[in-house]
Amino acid sequence: MTPERQISRRRFLKSAGLGAVGAIGTFAYGDLTSSKVRLEQKELKLPRWDADGFKVAVITDLHLDYPEAVLRTQWAISQLAALQPDVFVIVGDFLTSAAPQNLENVRTALRYLDQVKCPVFATLGNHDYWVGYFDLVTQAITSANLRLLRNEVVDLNGVAIAGIDDDIAYKARPELIAEAKKPKSTIALFHEPDSVKDVSTDLSLQISGHSHGGQICMPGGISVHTPRGAKKYIAGFYPDAKVPLYVSRGVGTTGPNWRLFCPPEATLLTLRGS
Ligand SMILES: [Fe+2]
Repeated sequence: MTPERQISRRRFLKSAGLGAVGAIGTFAYGDLTSSKVRLEQKELKLPRWDADGFKVAVITDLHLDYPEAVLRTQWAISQLAALQPDVFVIVGDFLTSAAPQNLENVRTALRYLDQVKCPVFATLGNHDYWVGYFDLVTQAITSANLRLLRNEVVDLNGVAIAGIDDDIAYKARPELIAEAKKPKSTIALFHEPDSVKDVSTDLSLQISGHSHGGQICMPGGISVHTPRGAKKYIAGFYPDAKVPLYVSRGVGTTGPNWRLFCPPEATLLTLRGS
């Protein structure tokens, strides 16, 4: 081998080695960011809101198909319960497959809701329908200390919680929520954030998930791909949507059990009138 060829071979091996180290580092970082739930505490100013200081704990997209998802969900529930919210909400996608172990995971994780001292409400997401075995899935979900809302409104001493059923699964009836008599302070739970276009303007806030914040993102949390129903609204607070909208990155994962530059979140929203 000529000296020139020896040098270029050495260069190739060096750059291949650096590439492998970079790839391993990226995967390791991704693994770290998918396992550590970030506790997000936000104060939202809402134009239509009477109950100043009302606290809403939010988790969503639990995807309890992995033991780590159970641990992440339990951690999120415990942290939020300790912050003494006025209401605790779960906005769909409890699991991705209805294997018996996953149904057991739902029961195990949601048992931690016994720590929560306020009312707990939930709505369903597209995956909760797509997994099939609807009765088994909803039995596992409602085994916990929560009330599942399917196109209904409940009143909590002047604050209403409107649970709209899943849009992608063709179960959403936002018109029923629009027709219902509601107080000035009304929070809608609606899995898909982009479906905010279909809700009535008399809602104070919509809370959604579904996007996973993009799940695998570029540095700075810039999403590369989001699912149908989360193309326009991806993560965080959107005060200028049709009604003010908060989108959580969620707790779990779909596809690869992996996140990058997009940590899972447990959220406490403190709502302020503006
Ligand atoms: Fe999801």
